[in-house]
This record gives sequence, C-alpha cells and structure tokens, in this order.
Amino acid sequence: MSVSDQAQRQIRQPLSNQVLSNIENKRVAKIYAITNQKGGVGKTTTSVNLAASLAATKKRVLMVDMDPQGNATMGSGIDKNSQIATVYDVLVDELAPQQAMVFSPDAGYHVLPANGDLTAAEVQLLEVDGKERRLKRALDSIATEFDYILIDCPPSLNMLTVNALAACEGVIIPMQCEYYALEGLSALMGTINTIQQALNPNLKIEGILRTMYDPRMSLTGEVSAQLTEHFGDRVYRTCIPRNIRLAEAPSFGKPVLGYDRQSKGALAYLALAGEILRRNEQHEHADIADAAVLQG
Ligand SMILES: Nc1ncnc2c1ncn2[C@@H]1O[C@H](COP(=O)(O)OP(=O)(O)OP(=O)(O)O)[C@@H](O)[C@H]1O
Ligand SMILES: [Mg+2]
Repeated sequence: MSVSDQAQRQIRQPLSNQVLSNIENKRVAKIYAITNQKGGVGKTTTSVNLAASLAATKKRVLMVDMDPQGNATMGSGIDKNSQIATVYDVLVDELAPQQAMVFSPDAGYHVLPANGDLTAAEVQLLEVDGKERRLKRALDSIATEFDYILIDCPPSLNMLTVNALAACEGVIIPMQCEYYALEGLSALMGTINTIQQALNPNLKIEGILRTMYDPRMSLTGEVSAQLTEHFGDRVYRTCIPRNIRLAEAPSFGKPVLGYDRQSKGALAYLALAGEILRRNEQHEHADIADAAVLQG
C-alpha cells in the first residue's frame, strides 16, 4: 500500500483515543460486552472462562457482572451475598469501582460483583442524570489498571445492557447454531445500531462465538454457513463444544481451567483467548503503521 493510500485510509478511519493512548504507552483496557438478549446461550460461561483464559496468559482482567442473577460472580468463586459493595453501588451511588471489585484467587482475575440488588438499579437509574453512561464513567476511571474488561450482560435489552453497550468498544455475541438464532441476532443488530447512533459511535461487533457446538447436527452447518456469509471474519474460528465440564465447574465456584484444565471446554476457551489476542496484536501493528505514516 502506498503512503498516500495509507493516508487516505487514515482519513477514513481516524485513530480512536484508545489507540492513541496505547501508542503513547498509556495502555488502556479493551472493554467487551458479552451479550445476546436470548437466554441460556452461554454468555456467563463465556465471560467467566474467557476471563480466566486471558488471565492465564498473564493479562490483567476484570470481569463485570451486570446480571442480577449473579451467576458470573458465583462462577468466579465470589459469594454474591456476602459483598459489602457491588456493581449496584457503582451504578446508583457512583461508588468508585475500586471499592467494590474483588480479586478471585481461584479464577485469577478481578470481579465487579452483582446480586439481586441490581434488579432495583434498573428502575432507580431511570431517574438519574446520564443514566446510560454510569458504567462507562466507572470503567473509564480504571481502564489503565487492566488489559481486558469483560462485561457479562443479562438476557434482555434493559438499562443494564444499555450501560454495558455504552461502556464497551465491542460486543462478543455467543450463540447456539439453532433455527431461531439468526432471528434473535437481527434484533440485537438493531439495538447495536441504535446505541451506535445515540451513545457510542465506535461500538462494533468484536466477534460472534458459536457455543454448545455440535458439528454432527446438520442444522449447525447450515446456521454456521449463514453466519459466515453475513459476518465474515467476525465469526470466531474457535467454536465452543458442548462439554459437561463447563456446566459442572460453576458449582465448584471455579472457571473450568481450575476444575479440569485438560477438558475440551477448557482448551476451547484457551483457544478463543489466543484468537482474540492474535487479532488485537494484528490490529495494533496496523495502527502503529498508520500512526507512523501520520507522523511522517
Ligand atoms: N459449552 C457448553 N457445554 C455444556 N454446557 C454449557 C456450555 N455453555 C453453557 N452451558 C450450560 O448452559 C447453561 C446456560 O449457560 P450460561 O448460563 O452461560 O448462559 P447465559 O447466556 O449466561 O444464560 P442467561 O441468559 O440466563 O444469563 C448453563 O447451565 C451452562 O452451564
Ligand atoms: Mg448469564
């Protein structure tokens, strides 16, 4: 690519503040929301096990639980009912996130925990200023302390999910390759468009993750092909197989890496972490090359 082509590309794609900060060596976390309004597709399993896999590669990771069910909190080995402060206090009372987050030695990452209190936040937030950006403000204040921040979203498109989508740079969408999956996806695309226009112009689809994957089912192949047709290389090459160890690990309060690290589920989430890290390294190299062109 010639220099003028690169400059043109630069004009089309201005460097984000995040990229500029990274280039200046003030590294800020990549923030991803794990979301799909459909229930039971593997959002929490992905949040917990991707966080653990990234932490296993020595990345500094925070997992934010934005679901009042608190499953991601419990699955990370943190008792949701014995916390002095949770993400509720951060959202509603603007408590500094450092005062609510806890490190899980079993999981290897920090957790901003949630419990049933969060249900009330949905209603209480409706009455406050900047209600959609409360989580963003909190996470921006600690973004230099982490390499990755993953947000586990609830199975609905409510104010908690809006906060997550406003706070992140990309969404990771776990989905099962079944008949109604694509239909659900188009509703999510609509929401992402709305958030892009109203709150977060840089929001992008970071990746689509096929979960509970069973290649023996013919529908799986058909849905997979349609996904690739629509989303191209946004579909992760890594698929997460159906694996009983992934379903068992939460009852021990551990990510699967701490429960059965040789299981197919553990290896799949490690592979996903590797794929995400490689993608980001490639983007970073391209950005640095672009910046070098800009600086002459
Ligand atoms: N790859 C997998 N193999 C086997 N079981 C899985 C797998 N992924 C998730 N599960 C199980 O499926 C159920 C739903 O998963 P999970 O809680 O991660 O979904 P979710 O999208 O977070 O659900 P919700 O919408 O309720 O928040 C859980 O019991 C989980 O243990
Ligand atoms: Mg969940």
